[in-house]
Order: sequence, then C-alpha cells, then structure tokens
Amino acid sequence: MTSKFDDKVVVVTGGTSGIGLATAKAFATEGASVFITGRRQDALDAAVRQIGGKVTGVRGDMSKLADIDRLYDAIQQKHAQIDVVFANAGGGKMAPLGAITEEHYQHTFDTNVKGVLFTVQKALPLLKDGASVILTSSTTSISGTPAFSVYSATKAAVRNFARNWILDLKDRHIRVNAISPGVTDTAGLDELFGGGEQAKGTKDYLASLIPAGRVGQPEEIARAVLFLASDEASFVNGIELFVDGGQVQI
Ligand SMILES: NC(=O)c1ccc[n+]([C@@H]2O[C@H](COP(=O)([O-])OP(=O)(O)OC[C@H]3O[C@@H](n4cnc5c(N)ncnc54)[C@H](OP(=O)(O)O)[C@@H]3O)[C@@H](O)[C@H]2O)c1
Repeated sequence: MTSKFDDKVVVVTGGTSGIGLATAKAFATEGASVFITGRRQDALDAAVRQIGGKVTGVRGDMSKLADIDRLYDAIQQKHAQIDVVFANAGGGKMAPLGAITEEHYQHTFDTNVKGVLFTVQKALPLLKDGASVILTSSTTSISGTPAFSVYSATKAAVRNFARNWILDLKDRHIRVNAISPGVTDTAGLDELFGGGEQAKGTKDYLASLIPAGRVGQPEEIARAVLFLASDEASFVNGIELFVDGGQVQI
C-alpha cells in the first residue's frame, strides 16, 4: 500500500511539541522521512519516540545560522533532495507597548522572522524544483491583541515572506504558503496563558468568541499543512490559509 508522502523528505522545525509535533506525526504516518528540530534534547528524544516511522531529530535553535547549517548537513548525509519545508518553530510572550524591551523584540524577531527566513533560504540548495514550503504565521498577522504587538508583527512579516518568495522562486516552481492557526491547544499556548487553571480559563473565554465554539487541536492544523504540502494543492501558491474556527473571519 502506498501512502501520500512515501519517498518524500520533509523538514518540520519546532517538531517536538504542539503544531509541529502533530504535523511531523501526520507526515510520518503518510510515509515521509521527517526531520524535526527543537532546542531541548530531552523533548527531541521524546518526540522521536512518539512519532515513530522514519524520523530524525536534529537539535538546534533555528534563530542561529550555524544550527540551521547542521540541520541541512544532517539531511544531506542521507538524502539528495528535500520535498517539503514546514518552517514552524516560533513563539512569543506578552508585553504591552510601554514595557517592550530590546531583548523581547530581539528574541521574538530572531525566532519568528530571522529563523523562518534562514530556514527557508538555507534549504534552497537541497529543495527540489516543485517543492512546497509552508510558513507558520498566525491569525495575529491580520488582527490586534492586547500586549501582543511584537509577536503579531513577526507573524505579519512571515505572511509577507510568502507573497514575495513565490516571485523569487517562480522559475523553480516552488510553492510557498502561510498557514495561520487560530487559538490552538498546545503546550506553548498554555505557557503563554500562565498554565493550569488560569490557562484553562483563558482558553474557555477565547473559545466563546470563536464561531466554531472551541479552540483548535494541533492535529487540525497538521491536516491543513499536509494539504498545502501535497499535490492536491498544486495551484495553491502564496496564500494565507486560516485554520481558526472562523475566529478572524467575522
Ligand atoms: N498555539 C497557538 O494557538 C498558535 C496560534 C497561531 C500560531 N502559532 C504558531 O505555531 C507555531 C508552533 O506553536 P505551538 O503552539 O505548537 O508551540 P509549542 O507547543 O511551544 O511548540 C513550539 C516548538 O518550537 C520549538 N522551538 C521554539 N523556538 C525554537 C527555536 N528558536 N529553534 C528551534 N525550535 C524552537 C519548541 O521546542 P524547544 O522549546 O525545545 O526549542 C517546540 O518544538 C509557532 O510558530 C507559533 O507562533 C501557534
């Protein structure tokens, strides 16, 4: 029996938790050779065990160019080409205007913008012509949230990368799309909302504002990423695909 991503080589940055982990699992289930990254070795080892199939963990901080080089070196040792890059590693913290520090700005932009930029740029020599690149943006790319302006600005930047890179990569027929999850139940989100009961309360409140009546699950984002990565999305290029239960569609 063949699976949709048999013989495909897929990179998922930030693949040890949440959206990245669910997506790496989904690709592995569909037969892909998957390379995941994360900064914490213990989380990386646990994710590799959990994902199973043809998965390799490469520890690295995607805001550091030398770590991105190590990732692609590791891939090149095993494979001639990459079919899919899911540049997903990212995150953010709350800071209202008036309390934004240089460190907060630098860290958020380094992870979410610099990391995505060089993850994709450094993949180019290995990327197959006709490959698919998916960038994790967010509903915050087009909306406002109190105390979340720096993160939101990074996600607007990421969305705009897709618009421009489809022009730069036109001759190689590489598709680039942004995926914009709404509120999605992950460890990263729980941490942002203060964990435990406090996080649960915030998620319940946000769910009441979402037309679907609930927050999203990482597996629901993963399915949309697999669609964008697949041949079924062969004419889908440069879009921002919102997977948000309708949150920013109203
Ligand atoms: N959850 C949501 O509601 C939501 C909504 C919209 C967009 N997003 C976006 O979706 C993406 C995934 O978020 P998530 O909620 O799944 O978060 P998560 O559960 O915190 O997972 C984040 C993953 O990224 C890795 N990571 C973080 N910084 C990294 C770096 N500098 N280099 C390499 N790996 C790094 C983490 O591992 P280590 O910590 O070990 O590095 C982890 O594997 C992010 O870009 C986030 O902004 C999330």
